[in-house]
Amino acid sequence: MTAENTQPWWQRAVFYQIYPRSFKDANGDGIGDLAGIIENLDYLKGKPDSLGVDALWLSPVYPSPQHDFGYDIKDYRNIDPLFGDLATFQKLLKEAHARDIKVVMDLVVNHTSWEHPWFRESRSSRDSPKRDWYIWRDGEGDGPPNNWRSLFGGPAWQWDEQSQQYYLHLFLKEQPDLNWRNPEVQEAIWEIMRYWLEMGVDGFRLDVYNFYFKDATLRSNPRRRSLRGLFYAYEGQHHIYDQDQPEMYGALAKMREIVDSYPGDRMLVGETSTIDNFQQAYSYYGQDHDGLNLVFNFEFLNSRWRAKDFRQAIIHWQQHAPNWSWPTWVLSNHDVIRHFTRYAQKGVGHLRARVAASMLLTLKGTPFLYYGDEIGMREGRLSRSMIQDPPGKKFWPFFRGRDGCRTPMQWTAGEQAGFSTVRPWLPINKDKKTVNVESEQQNEQSLFQYYQRLIALRKNTPALLSGALHLLDNTPEQTLVYHRSLGDDTLWIALNFSQRKTTISLNFSETMEVVLATHHPEGHTFSPGSLKLEPDEALICRKSK
Ligand code: NOJ
Repeated sequence: MTAENTQPWWQRAVFYQIYPRSFKDANGDGIGDLAGIIENLDYLKGKPDSLGVDALWLSPVYPSPQHDFGYDIKDYRNIDPLFGDLATFQKLLKEAHARDIKVVMDLVVNHTSWEHPWFRESRSSRDSPKRDWYIWRDGEGDGPPNNWRSLFGGPAWQWDEQSQQYYLHLFLKEQPDLNWRNPEVQEAIWEIMRYWLEMGVDGFRLDVYNFYFKDATLRSNPRRRSLRGLFYAYEGQHHIYDQDQPEMYGALAKMREIVDSYPGDRMLVGETSTIDNFQQAYSYYGQDHDGLNLVFNFEFLNSRWRAKDFRQAIIHWQQHAPNWSWPTWVLSNHDVIRHFTRYAQKGVGHLRARVAASMLLTLKGTPFLYYGDEIGMREGRLSRSMIQDPPGKKFWPFFRGRDGCRTPMQWTAGEQAGFSTVRPWLPINKDKKTVNVESEQQNEQSLFQYYQRLIALRKNTPALLSGALHLLDNTPEQTLVYHRSLGDDTLWIALNFSQRKTTISLNFSETMEVVLATHHPEGHTFSPGSLKLEPDEALICRKSK
């Protein structure tokens, strides 16, 4: 058996995140839906012009009042009518599995919607049997119980007139936090997981799991000096009591035990808001395969367009993650400015998008793509009146919100970009004439076709799927060079982050041949000892046979 066959699917897969509201609207209400995803499964895998991804992560599709666009769930066992129904979801699972595409659900259980029956009951009176399912407290003096802040602005406590106490919400007031210290709450969550696993989902993306447990006595966080804290009070505290409590490890071990009890390598990928405390973030892999299968590594989201930033992120991974754990790499998601726009500058946006994609898909670890990355979707530009994201509305103009990365998928150059037959919930980007699936599928020079080739290369190259990664030191500034090797195959990846030609000297006495590159043609050979990079070039080579 080759090494690739022994890897679980989630180590080999290229993941593709779908923001369901914005992928494809099949029923003509301006909002994307499950039927729209089903219609486009062939786009994702199985046909010659498919992208070639292996797994979907769906942002939440459960019934929700949509205050945080589905991250506020009012029924964990159903589908919001906006997106379809359970039968359509089952059809999606079946059709995806028929194409060998895995489906991972978003599990949002730090908080529920305030419309969830559990919260309604909890709120109804202080003696409610569900009172302790959420975190209710009396105030301190005239104010809330402690100094905790909501990530979305303001205090994390909401006064409830009816029952005369405060409840905790680390996000919107419409998203009350569950009390994970109550065993009944935990049991209810395990049951939700089993419900979807029975139905056949392949795993869960855990939303802000490191917030589940709070300090047992709800101590106030110590203050933290920070410039950003002046504008955004959340940053003005050390979050030692409202997140990352030790009880988290036991909960994750239990969740892992549940997914492992089903056949087919079901999995957990966890999202933490902790980007810079690597030790802490990577501890959630557990002691010995008893934590998360994958921990999101968001360091690239903060990397500037400098080879040393990306290099540093890779080194942080190597230094802080357990040596048996499996990395993840992310450039974009539904919470941040699209990376095409983050890195686009002076007309080199397309080239940089290719360099970034080449890195994402050749590093050791599981890459997560965000819908539209593959066609080079940019951050949408929205005026204040179009903003829908609650923090966007609140912090305008300092923070424009997250709508810009959630604009509708651009399928064609036509009306509504082929996304819908009516005006969609967010405006279509103005560049749809050139940036769209239909035209890029037909154009050999397109970013889409470059992604296709990269994904296919990765899939067919065991060294890229599971080979060791070795970073080269002392390469010219603004270059990132590494190799991936398995058995006697080694692939060299050289990325030029600068707009100058450069030469990489290699301690290597054989001729190198281009496997895939943005500038040099496939099959081009370099004489022993050096690789030559054009400005903004990504080069993948192996020694010539
Ligand atoms: C993280 C999600 O990615 C984000 O979109 C959401 O607003 C918060 N968690 C709250 O659920």
